[in-house]
Amino acid sequence: RNARAQASLAEDVLDVSRIISGKLRLAMRRVDLVDSVRAALDAVRPAAQAKGIDIDAVVGSDMLLMGDPDRLQQVCWNLLSNAVKFTPDGGRVEVRVLRTDSQLEMRVRDTGPGIAPEFLPQLFERFRQADSSTTRQHRGLGLGLAIVRHLVELHGGRVSAESAGPGSGATFVVRLPVSPVGLTVEEEPAGPDRPAAVGAARREAPRLTGIRVLVVDDEADVRDLLEQVLGRFGAEVRTVGSAQAALDAVQQWRPDVMLGDIGMPNEDGYTLIRRVRTLPPEKGGLTPAAALTAYGGEENRMRALAAGYQLHLAKPILPHELAEAVSGLALSTRAR
Ligand SMILES: Nc1ncnc2c1ncn2[C@@H]1O[C@H](COP(=O)(O)OP(=O)(O)OP(=O)(O)O)[C@@H](O)[C@H]1O
Ligand SMILES: [Mg+2]
Repeated sequence: RNARAQASLAEDVLDVSRIISGKLRLAMRRVDLVDSVRAALDAVRPAAQAKGIDIDAVVGSDMLLMGDPDRLQQVCWNLLSNAVKFTPDGGRVEVRVLRTDSQLEMRVRDTGPGIAPEFLPQLFERFRQADSSTTRQHRGLGLGLAIVRHLVELHGGRVSAESAGPGSGATFVVRLPVSPVGLTVEEEPAGPDRPAAVGAARREAPRLTGIRVLVVDDEADVRDLLEQVLGRFGAEVRTVGSAQAALDAVQQWRPDVMLGDIGMPNEDGYTLIRRVRTLPPEKGGLTPAAALTAYGGEENRMRALAAGYQLHLAKPILPHELAEAVSGLALSTRAR
């Protein structure tokens, strides 16, 4: 057990030197955060059992995002192992994974000593430990949270800690963005130092030339990303930021395909598609449409289909999958 602890200390020190030299890279792919959390839970369970600490985990399913699975597991493991390490025997640790339309949130809460308000701001700095005396009770170098913060930020996320003060436990919250379209290494947009024709996926990608795609999303950067990705496949793209603007564009611009977000203020994507479907065919009432949403799972899929979408696409989707979906929807009208 001691040998394992030594190995992980050495790994942490290596990670920190990679962070400092800017050499820590992520191997991004589409991952389910639930798998990372479960793997980390399995790893800390023996330590929790030895201390009689009850771990209560409610993590759901289908929590997809673009990320590095090993590094996400390391984030979860660090937070969970801190919770177990600093919580006294017989305590309790709670883990929750939640999703909103654009981000995933993981919370780790414990019933341990908590964190003094004056220490909170330094918590994520290297080698910072609340108890730095040589006689302190717990092992460790004080690197875990610095690594966590760096890894979370590399994923475009944020980590924060809350504590009502000594004696009242601590809560750590990790928020990770769910990009609508995940760009993998081979599918990054072409740039000055990145020629367009890399990767087999690109060459086999469906062409969307001449296909009009209406993108509906309340977030401007999501609209820009979708416009850029679909544009690369040759689609003619128009973007709007609300259900009302989408309804107007469906009637006036007559897109071949509508691609819509579900979670939007005022009118959501369900209301939008219901209103589109009440239009007469010559006004775009039959426009094929896909819901692009972070709310995955069978129940949400059925809800989207029942409201009038032909397809329910879970974020993050890979660019060529998105192009295939759009191309399929466009063909479905041409066949009519
Ligand atoms: N759940 C928690 N409850 C109370 N204090 C915590 C908790 N998590 C972290 N801390 C405080 O933050 C400090 C830094 O945590 P961090 O994980 O970076 O270091 P460590 O656990 O001491 O060592 P290492 O992770 O390198 O083995 C800890 O030493 C502790 O004082
Ligand atoms: Mg730690």
